[in-house]
Amino acid sequence: MESTKTQNKRPNVLIILADDLGFSDVGCFGGEIQTPNIDQLAQEGLRLTDFHTASACSPTRAMLLSGTDNHVAGLGSMAERMNEEIQKNPGYEGYLNDRVVSLQECLQDSGYETLMSGKWHLGQTPDRVPGARGFDRSFTLLNGCHNHYGWEPAYEDRSKIPGIAAVLRRLYYQDDKPVSPEELPEGFYSTDSFTDILLEYLRNHDERQEERPFFAYLPFSAPHWPLQAPLEVIDKYRGIYDDGPEALRQRRLVKLKEMGLVPENAVPAPVISKDEDGNDTKTWDEMTPSEQAVSARNMEAYAGMVDRIDWNVGRVIEHLKSTNQLDNTVVMFFSDNGAEGAQFEAWPITAGGDMDAYVAQYHNNSIENIGAYDSYVWYGSRWASASTAPGLLYKMFTSEGGIRVPFVLRYPGLVKSPGSIDHSFSTVMDIMPTLLDLCKAQHPGRTYRGHEIEPMAGKTWLPYLNKETPEIHSVDHVTGWELFGRRAIRQGSWKALFIPSPFGPEKWQLFNILEDPGETTDLCSEQPEKLTEMTRLYEDYCKTNGVISQSGASRAQWSKDI
Ligand SMILES: *[C@@H]1O[C@H](CO)[C@@H](O)[C@H](O)[C@H]1NC(C)=O
Repeated sequence: MESTKTQNKRPNVLIILADDLGFSDVGCFGGEIQTPNIDQLAQEGLRLTDFHTASACSPTRAMLLSGTDNHVAGLGSMAERMNEEIQKNPGYEGYLNDRVVSLQECLQDSGYETLMSGKWHLGQTPDRVPGARGFDRSFTLLNGCHNHYGWEPAYEDRSKIPGIAAVLRRLYYQDDKPVSPEELPEGFYSTDSFTDILLEYLRNHDERQEERPFFAYLPFSAPHWPLQAPLEVIDKYRGIYDDGPEALRQRRLVKLKEMGLVPENAVPAPVISKDEDGNDTKTWDEMTPSEQAVSARNMEAYAGMVDRIDWNVGRVIEHLKSTNQLDNTVVMFFSDNGAEGAQFEAWPITAGGDMDAYVAQYHNNSIENIGAYDSYVWYGSRWASASTAPGLLYKMFTSEGGIRVPFVLRYPGLVKSPGSIDHSFSTVMDIMPTLLDLCKAQHPGRTYRGHEIEPMAGKTWLPYLNKETPEIHSVDHVTGWELFGRRAIRQGSWKALFIPSPFGPEKWQLFNILEDPGETTDLCSEQPEKLTEMTRLYEDYCKTNGVISQSGASRAQWSKDI
């Protein structure tokens, strides 16, 4: 009886994850995009301004669901970018490996119903899908990067462009079965449909008068390219971006400072915008009026996608409210990494040609069609630099633009001053220990189902949020990052950063990240000893986590058939 009583008190959990959303896109983080529902969560909850993920999608998801470093959990690099040689290294399997127990396995074992709808990206074989890793119910996109309307003509035409079909193939799965594209829900649009299915799972949970609390995981595949959203939503943003990405970046910076999310005297990072050959892309002023119009429309499509995420967040929150469950649900909203700044135009992403060729063959990118099911656009590094302001660079880089993301927590049981902003350093690895703590669930220790497992590296936020400790991580706590040869190490206010050419100086730099979140003033000559100490910590980090040395990701690696 005792145990049932305790169980009833345990909170539900809802994690909402955006895909490639930048630091300053949503309203409560200084953005002009209309996100009233996420803003409401922030107003009733807590925002973290120094919250970090990995610089790319699947590594972050591995950290979130294992509580430890991606090089331990199996995503030492992205599966799409590894060859068989690299995949032989422990931690580079390309899926969530058996050296870790997952968050959902721990919650499931401790009596939670575990539900997921959205993007997985942590394994594609039947023994690696969500249902095999602890989700009772799941509807997922197993990989990433799909057409948000489920419309992908190249799949029916593999002979012409075999490469694209392999790299971007759609792989949907429900519970223990693949879902063919024809079986997708009527009128499929990723953000709407993932939400519909999660709501169905939640209603089933309520109808059964389920004793178990739920863990619901809603990882959207938006606003990842191709940028697509209902055209009437995109149209809400018509004209807003006509003065270009640099003007937007400046507006957002003013707002971020006004809101107290970024220090008043912070110097923003310079904008770095290069194509894959290392040449600078055109600035706004160098573009023709018609190039500007297309570029602004791409940003409108991006805004439309974020707007639609928010609308769907509202649907889930409304459901929890109307069933009187909201206050007993730990709600987290964040992004998996910074905004996507790649210039895909010349990427040899297909075996038969570059991205432009693929787009031209199958899609209609006329300006009035941008955002529609048969369009195929991305917005490039200048808009991404507005999304990640004041951070340096964007997704795929270990600079702040790639790894610092917006984070919102709503849970009245824990957040004592609604609407507050907290500047503590924290990472996505902290979420699992925090939730296990809140849900009174156990990490099994060193073995799980007969195999050895690694401990969590993150730290629970409970003592800090309950005001029992002055910080989440002590000042000497060390966190490292590595992906595609891009590296970083952080300890307290110090960060050392290594970005290879042509996007960085290809040498270690040293920053006081609290004073200089834009990573603008390299302190390596003033503080050579500190830099040496930091790079030594980086070497330790690599040893502890089994990081193998990789050079920058070459373009050719994308052609690999996954
Ligand atoms: C592209 O889309 C626009 C707007 O929907 C339409 O007017 C135009 O005819 C389309 N072009 C082609 C080649 O289908």
